[in-house]
Amino acid sequence: MKEKIESLLTQAQELKAETAAELEALKVKYLGRKGIVQELFQDFKNVPPEEKRETGQKLNELKESIQNSLNALKERLESKTTQSNATNDLTLPVDFSDFGARHPLSIVRNQICAIFGNIGYTIAEGPEIEDDWHNFTALNFPLEHPARDMQDTFFIEKDPDIALRTHTSSVQIRMMERNKPPIRSIFPGRVYRNEAISARAHCLFHQVEGLYIDHNVSFADLKQTLYYFAKEMFSSDTKIRLRPSYFPFTEPSAEMDISCNICGGKGCNICKGSGWVEILGCGMVDPNVLENCGIDSAKYTGFAFGMGIERVTMLKYQINDLRLFFENDVRFLKQFEAV
Ligand code: PHE
Repeated sequence: MKEKIESLLTQAQELKAETAAELEALKVKYLGRKGIVQELFQDFKNVPPEEKRETGQKLNELKESIQNSLNALKERLESKTTQSNATNDLTLPVDFSDFGARHPLSIVRNQICAIFGNIGYTIAEGPEIEDDWHNFTALNFPLEHPARDMQDTFFIEKDPDIALRTHTSSVQIRMMERNKPPIRSIFPGRVYRNEAISARAHCLFHQVEGLYIDHNVSFADLKQTLYYFAKEMFSSDTKIRLRPSYFPFTEPSAEMDISCNICGGKGCNICKGSGWVEILGCGMVDPNVLENCGIDSAKYTGFAFGMGIERVTMLKYQINDLRLFFENDVRFLKQFEAV
């Protein structure tokens, strides 16, 4: 047995394999369940007791040595395949089939812009770093309003007058300060709130604000505009309902629900059985806000609305965790629309 092991040890140094199949065959031959090494282990019980120690050591040495040789062969084979790939014809045209995809939030923002664009709304943007006047005071927020609180708003430490805007309503003010009615615009953009990150809340998200100021703009105009939007965005059989609400900058104010687009209004876990899901806040622009911007509230009226793009996107694509939008995992991002 000793001689057999010795000769196998020499063989182990000389193993050769050109392909993965050959390598596999060697593995079976030497280390398989019925392979040479296993056979020797079977014979081990016949070795006389005084030789057991030495033979046992040799046997383990042999097994290890074969394993090492096979590992080395495997590595060589693998590096050979990568090398041969690298020497492929480099003059071949690049494979362009792996394009990225547009982010779902961008897809939905573009859709919202297009829907309002079709009825004559222009698009405008404002700064994300805002002053107190545009984010709060001009919008009729009382001084002690909780939204002004540090807990909700990211202020700049050195200057309490400067904050990251908490909503796109700040752009309403900038628009009305710079333009005379009629005004018919939407304002998409990023907003910030000091919230703990969860499946339903994030410290950064996106809104689209809408503003329409002219002679004789009524609540009926608001309702019809939003009904048109809901049908275009979701489906033509979508229903809407308005619930009374409160915002400092609109009076009267409302929140709008749409009939749940998942269950069609029958009740499911998305709409918590009610058949309705909330998608936006809206109302008639408060006369104080018009006056703050130099617009005569006796001559003009108007409406405003604001919606979260994440919320609309989650409903549209049935996404249940807000954090997915910000993780940039291509497996998530590629499920929407190709560029
Ligand atoms: N700015 C409000 C919010 O962030 C939404 C809103 C906009 C409500 C315009 C009414 C009118 O919740």
